[in-house]
Amino acid sequence: MHAALLDVFLAILVLADARRFRSFIANGLTSFEETSLEEAESVEGKAWVLLVAGSNGWFNYRHQADVCHAYHLTREHGIPKENIITMMYDDIASHSQNPYPGKIFNVPNGSDVYAGVVVDYANIHVTPENFLAVLSGNASGVNGGSGRVIESGPNDHIFVFFSDHGATGLISFPSSILTVKDLNDALRRMHKRKRYAKLVFYLEACESGSMFQKVLPKQINVYAMTASNAHESSWGCFCDNVMKLPCLGDCFSINWIVDSEKEDLRKETVRHQYQVVKLKTNQSHVMHYGDLTIGNDIVGEYLGEKAVKKKHHFGDSFDTFESEAWPSREIHLRMLEKQLYEAHSESEKAEIRHRIKKLYMKRDYFEAFFKSMIFSLVHDERDRSDIFSHWPHSIRNLNCHDQVTKAFHSTCFHFGHNPYAMKYVYVLTNLCNAGYKAERIVRLLFEKCMEIEIQGIY
Ligand SMILES: *[C@@H]1O[C@H](CO)[C@@H](O)[C@H](O)[C@H]1NC(C)=O
Ligand SMILES: *[C@@H]1O[C@H](CO)[C@@H](O)[C@H](O)[C@H]1NC(C)=O
Ligand SMILES: *[C@@H]1O[C@H](CO)[C@@H](O)[C@H](O)[C@H]1NC(C)=O
Repeated sequence: MHAALLDVFLAILVLADARRFRSFIANGLTSFEETSLEEAESVEGKAWVLLVAGSNGWFNYRHQADVCHAYHLTREHGIPKENIITMMYDDIASHSQNPYPGKIFNVPNGSDVYAGVVVDYANIHVTPENFLAVLSGNASGVNGGSGRVIESGPNDHIFVFFSDHGATGLISFPSSILTVKDLNDALRRMHKRKRYAKLVFYLEACESGSMFQKVLPKQINVYAMTASNAHESSWGCFCDNVMKLPCLGDCFSINWIVDSEKEDLRKETVRHQYQVVKLKTNQSHVMHYGDLTIGNDIVGEYLGEKAVKKKHHFGDSFDTFESEAWPSREIHLRMLEKQLYEAHSESEKAEIRHRIKKLYMKRDYFEAFFKSMIFSLVHDERDRSDIFSHWPHSIRNLNCHDQVTKAFHSTCFHFGHNPYAMKYVYVLTNLCNAGYKAERIVRLLFEKCMEIEIQGIY
């Protein structure tokens, strides 16, 4: 190519790049700039948003509240409806225990965040298979729901927010799990197939750092922010609220959502948001992984750039610092304790006391069973204590972790029905790390778990 022509060509490229994410969320805005850029529309990126609550049940109120709140946030910042896909069980608003039928709140004295939310995948269709198919744009791979998927291309940005329970190297869905292997394989495949220019993933779950730490590559244009590091709980916020509801939200989630409501997303960078949220979420360590240069991007490139005038989803003054926060895995028990404290009649109290006692017994049973199972695999006294007392520095064998956790979930203790069991996934990870073969561990699980009948270990 002629040198001068090449210069012109390069100049156009640079210009196009700078403009790329200025006008893609033009929803509701019709300034001169937007219309004049129409021609470039075909090469410009779109922003896509995928919002997922992985739990169900009344005491898990907060996960669906987070997702509904995030839905309104991205809509108000100008992401078009067609570019947002939501997955949530949708059993909270209409729950028999909901004192505000048809409504969900995420912060004290906030407005109802359920109104207007379009749920694409509800109930039994909230599955890891559907999640991965929707994320990667595989329309033939989805089962049920609206059937919509993220139809992204090489210039597009994708924002994913997931809120639920988690454990070492896995996050939970109502009746299944998604492992660190499944997720990172999918992201790598998407990158290879040019399904996005950049992808930002915010993850609320216990031990959520373990879904990315030392696994997420730095060079596939993915930035992940997690509520906690690889070996600690995440926290529920506004757990002791005057509204008589379970914890309204998760602390990390509320902090990033409320920060996004307050800031000008055309100016705030992802790194700045990370710093703000890390400071505010001080019961756990908010972490980030992957391509940290994405931290230089403005948040608006992912959540929408439109300025929001009315900030009506949170009460006038609150801070998650002042909120009663509980570690996620203890919320079920603490809710029962709170109910006991507030109970009026003696018979009511006796009933709740009985439930609490049963819960402790189930936990004891689980721990004893789990220990004896591991002991029949590991004979050396020192190895045993290592396997129980240390957090894995990393998940060294992703395949082993994947096979073993899935086998444990399907043949021993279903994580959705026994969330307390998630606490011990690190032990399974340690077994893999110590070199025990997946086949051998899985065989042991089949043998030992044949006759388990107990459920509901919270
Ligand atoms: C919520 O409203 C109640 C009753 O109006 C009030 O007493 C309380 O202070 C408010 N709480 C917050 C956090 O604004
Ligand atoms: C889409 O999902 C189906 C069903 O899971 C699968 O067989 C197929 O390979 C997937 N296609 C792509 C392109 O990933
Ligand atoms: C979190 O920060 C608040 C406000 O600075 C402080 O009162 C609280 O003790 C801190 N909590 C922890 C666990 O550090």
